[in-house]
Amino acid sequence: MSDAHGDTIDALGHEDRRFPPPADFVAGAAVTDAAMRAEALADSEAFWARQASELLTWQEPWSRVLDWQVPNARWFDGGRLNVAENCLDRHVAAGNGSRVAIHWEGEPGDTRTITYADLLAEVERFSNVLRSLGVAKGDRVNIYLPMIPEAAVAMLSCARIGAVHSVVFGGFSSQSLADRINDAEAKVLITADGGYRRGEVFALKPAADEALATTPSIEHVVVVRRGGNEVTMQPGRDHWYHELMEEASPSCPAEGMDAEDLLFLLYTSGTTGKPKGIMHTTGGYLTHVTYTHRYVFDLRPDDVYWCTADVGWITGHSYIVYGPLANGATQVMYEGVPNHPGNDRFWDIVERYGVTIFYTAPTAIRTFMKWGAEEPAAHDLSSLRLLGTVGEPINPEAWMWYHTHIGQGRCPIVDTWWQTETGGIMISPLPGETTTKPGSATFALPGVSAEVLDDAGQVVTHGGGYLALTEPWPGMLRGIWGDPQRFVDTYWSRFEGRYFAGDGARLDDDGYLWLLGRVDDVMNVSGHRISTTEVESALVSHPAVAEAAVVGATDDTTGQAIVAYVSLRGGADVDVTTLRNHVATEIGAIAKPKAIFFTPDLPKTRSGKIMRRLLRDVAEGRDLGDTTTLADASVVSELQQRAAQAPAED
Ligand code: WTA
Repeated sequence: MSDAHGDTIDALGHEDRRFPPPADFVAGAAVTDAAMRAEALADSEAFWARQASELLTWQEPWSRVLDWQVPNARWFDGGRLNVAENCLDRHVAAGNGSRVAIHWEGEPGDTRTITYADLLAEVERFSNVLRSLGVAKGDRVNIYLPMIPEAAVAMLSCARIGAVHSVVFGGFSSQSLADRINDAEAKVLITADGGYRRGEVFALKPAADEALATTPSIEHVVVVRRGGNEVTMQPGRDHWYHELMEEASPSCPAEGMDAEDLLFLLYTSGTTGKPKGIMHTTGGYLTHVTYTHRYVFDLRPDDVYWCTADVGWITGHSYIVYGPLANGATQVMYEGVPNHPGNDRFWDIVERYGVTIFYTAPTAIRTFMKWGAEEPAAHDLSSLRLLGTVGEPINPEAWMWYHTHIGQGRCPIVDTWWQTETGGIMISPLPGETTTKPGSATFALPGVSAEVLDDAGQVVTHGGGYLALTEPWPGMLRGIWGDPQRFVDTYWSRFEGRYFAGDGARLDDDGYLWLLGRVDDVMNVSGHRISTTEVESALVSHPAVAEAAVVGATDDTTGQAIVAYVSLRGGADVDVTTLRNHVATEIGAIAKPKAIFFTPDLPKTRSGKIMRRLLRDVAEGRDLGDTTTLADASVVSELQQRAAQAPAED
């Protein structure tokens, strides 16, 4: 393990609190003993096959459960199904059309109640809209929307006709959108005029227009009216969603898809500048997310489930759209920020809708801690029965706060570890079975095999190392769009035959897994993966900047904060605010460095590699260890002085 994680290992090592599942929770839980683990251990293929046939509706059965030629997996080959049919039609056919699928709440307080029958009707119409715009099976469709129900409609409509969606988070800049559209060569873009955030309308269509100037593959743009802000519509190319929907015919049969047909691409940061288009397919992915959503969240028919993620991230794909809808769940979907109009917005929503299962990110929990326990205390949270977290390691202090002030000591917490690449949850407690420890994601789920490995790839049975997944799983990524070699290099070359997750992990005396964050140069800011290289490229694209080095420094609120060291071109001058805004324009506000330090030189090894470990130490105010490998050691002491003097930006 790298030095940077030494502290984390020590700090977590002292945790000895235990939380067995509460008796009244166990009384109604789906999984309460180790039988499911034993079944999966005995024959994992048979176990997954049972999940696939019990939880999903297939048009044709598969001929083979798993075909595994490292690193290429085919799950349920020969099987045919449609994802939208599994998420919608079958629930309506079973008589559950009037069940609420989505309680949607806009940030200004407007609401929509959407039943399964409503959602199916909307998806059938929009599927016909897409077809009328020339979208055929296998074509890519980009989605750039706020958190409105049309985001789910757009995704499900693609799935219904066999088109491949690529959702780009609405907070990303036009440049990021253009890069992703061009990489996927998408034919259609679905966006909105704008959406609500912090009490104001943020414009999406103008950002999309900027991107569209450099995206020749896009033939049509569909625009949902949400913000009411003024937009320019290019005749022939741009169309209003509501106008197309009025003309569309209401019925659209679902396309039969092969289990291994591509369902979506989702771009995620890698260690080099270019984002990776992670590929997910149909049958295995849906099996994985439906299974995990059902058992990790112990879903019951009367639950009101709420995941606070954005559909632009994998959590929104798997645990707002596909998992919950395939399970026929009733959920809350909320458009805006947690502090509008007040810091208690989330607790107000929990109270009003009677939310029973609440799934959020550690960074949000730490923010709630800052705002104070009186915010949740002012609301009736007695409907809650289960809490979840995802996105980064949760520190025991935040876990305890969540347990005490949101769960009121009553609700189990599922700390769920997974990645864009894994498709669904891999390591997590089963809330009716697993005794939890604050800060530990506990064990691999039934059907999943995880190990901690040392540098040489030897299994670590106690202590720290690298997390690896040692058996294929149905929701696993099937590749990186357009770059098979990078798929092999990134995930399958570090340890032969095993998937390298890029995370550090530690096993304690009881065999519990403790996740330790990224071991590569990807930062985790508020649960979002941002590569240091991407931010560096953005900084260097400013004419005044000669060179930049970016590191993630531990931050109480956001997990990691982006700290940049910048050296300017001779004679050039630029201020910190300008550079921060430049990064926001290039990548998105989410990647704005919290602090920028100017330095005449960056600390480098003699071979010219930037010493990130040192820069992290500087950023985190630590004593520096060995600096003898540096080309010029005085660079660092200079930087330390600057770091000690300069206040951080908000
Ligand atoms: C981190 C999000 C510790 C981890 C679903 C992983 C976590 C990366 C946890 C994936 C957790 C996610 N405990 N770390 N419970 N969940 N991570 O692709 O570093 O946005 O590799 O997927 O988030 O981020 P991604």
